[in-house]
Amino acid sequence: MADYILAIDQGTTSSRAIIFDKAGSIISTGQLEHEQIFPQAGWVEHNATQIWDNTREVIGQALGKANLTRHDIAAVGITNQRETAVVWDKNTGRPVYNAIVWQDTRTQPIVDRLAADGGVERFKQQVGLPLATYFSGTKIVWILENVPGAREKAEAGDLLFGTTDTWVLWNLTGGVDGGVHATDVTNASRTMFMDLETLAWDDDILAAFGVPKSMLPEIKSSSEVYGTAHSSSLLREVPVAGILGDQQAATFGQAAFDAGESKNTYGTGNFLIFNTGEEIVHSKNGLLTTLGYKLGDAAPHYALEGSIAVTGSLIQWLRDNLGLFSSAPEVEALAKTVEDNGGAYFVPAFSGLFAPYWRPDARGALVGLTRFVNKGHIARAALEATAFQTREVLDAVNADSGVDLTELKVDGGMIANNTLMQFQADILGVPVVRPVVAETTALGAAYAAGLAVGFWSSLDELRANWQEDSRWVPSMDPAERDRQLRLWKKAVTKTFDWVD
Ligand code: G3P
Repeated sequence: MADYILAIDQGTTSSRAIIFDKAGSIISTGQLEHEQIFPQAGWVEHNATQIWDNTREVIGQALGKANLTRHDIAAVGITNQRETAVVWDKNTGRPVYNAIVWQDTRTQPIVDRLAADGGVERFKQQVGLPLATYFSGTKIVWILENVPGAREKAEAGDLLFGTTDTWVLWNLTGGVDGGVHATDVTNASRTMFMDLETLAWDDDILAAFGVPKSMLPEIKSSSEVYGTAHSSSLLREVPVAGILGDQQAATFGQAAFDAGESKNTYGTGNFLIFNTGEEIVHSKNGLLTTLGYKLGDAAPHYALEGSIAVTGSLIQWLRDNLGLFSSAPEVEALAKTVEDNGGAYFVPAFSGLFAPYWRPDARGALVGLTRFVNKGHIARAALEATAFQTREVLDAVNADSGVDLTELKVDGGMIANNTLMQFQADILGVPVVRPVVAETTALGAAYAAGLAVGFWSSLDELRANWQEDSRWVPSMDPAERDRQLRLWKKAVTKTFDWVD
């Protein structure tokens, strides 16, 4: 057997290929950012063709840097930004419209229309999700209703839909030349169309949305051979054997395989996933019910999820839209020029508010301003927003599960920021723990692929790869924590009811 697994991580801001060895250590990485397209307020798009071109290129980068060829790769795993919807013509391979990104809120009128009969929780029992612009379903409807000729073509069976895992899989396995049109249960669970119990597309929900079933990929497990890379690929004939949505992949990469285990990922947004094992748990506190993973024919694992739309992307916004610094890591130095937030609270409700509020009518607010506040305080308030939002999600997880988490495993780009991690521990009141391999998203996809081809033999073997790197312990006075949380919650209320 070859010595390595290659994971493709098709994320919101970039596409990466990471090669792992058996110990779960990184051998090499390729990475390319793609364009973020904002045609109007609230609209966020990606060029799916650029995403696929970049994906091909980063595979070459990762192989090249380590001097490896396809013969060294035992399997490929795919992980991806979830919910982002691509619709393409199966005869030409060309997308009919840009990918509509998970953060995009243009479909609120479609949400309202569907919610008019039964409210936003109309399909929640079956699919675990409230009606919201976040999920793929209404994005597909928007394309069918707004791209000239799309509905006719879809009804004639010429259009395919996929989240970006499916788009990458289809292209990697041949595209118009026999590409495999499939997804895994975790990605399917973010569309609004998959029944949590049967793990199949629900005909009644599809009818309510007016989406033809022929567009949808086949739902598979997260760990099985879906097909092999096409002869035109540098990876030709290598089996593609794992798919997990990026947050579920990070959970898997953190070895949080069992009920009661969890992780929090700090990316463009933050996503806390709490494994509920084989049980489907419906939240009473604003969390989503979602698939955790499914390995081949084994029973699926479910999870509760607290999704926060804007965390790392607020730092990008300070960089790109306000020019407060020129690279995102500089936010920490700027935040450290001041002692505290100076009374400022920043609620980044740029896509409305997700968990635990689910308020599409919310818009961002920076409150508590006086002439004392400077850019250091604003940088600090932006970092703190991530920690406060995480605290509110953790409270929801604790309330739903009936047990308080005693520590929080973290991963993602922002965990390099010590100031944030310390503040996070302070605001949570429990330790925050970082693993040695912080690239847990790609690692999780590699694990899923490696398990399918026998590169790894068991979950216990993977669990042994997990090692603690750092731990932040709370040191804030509880009365101060309560004061800050009270002000944060007050700031949140200022963002509501802001859409005309
Ligand atoms: O649900 C959206 C999530 O999957 C995006 O993750 O890391 O690309 O921001 P990320």
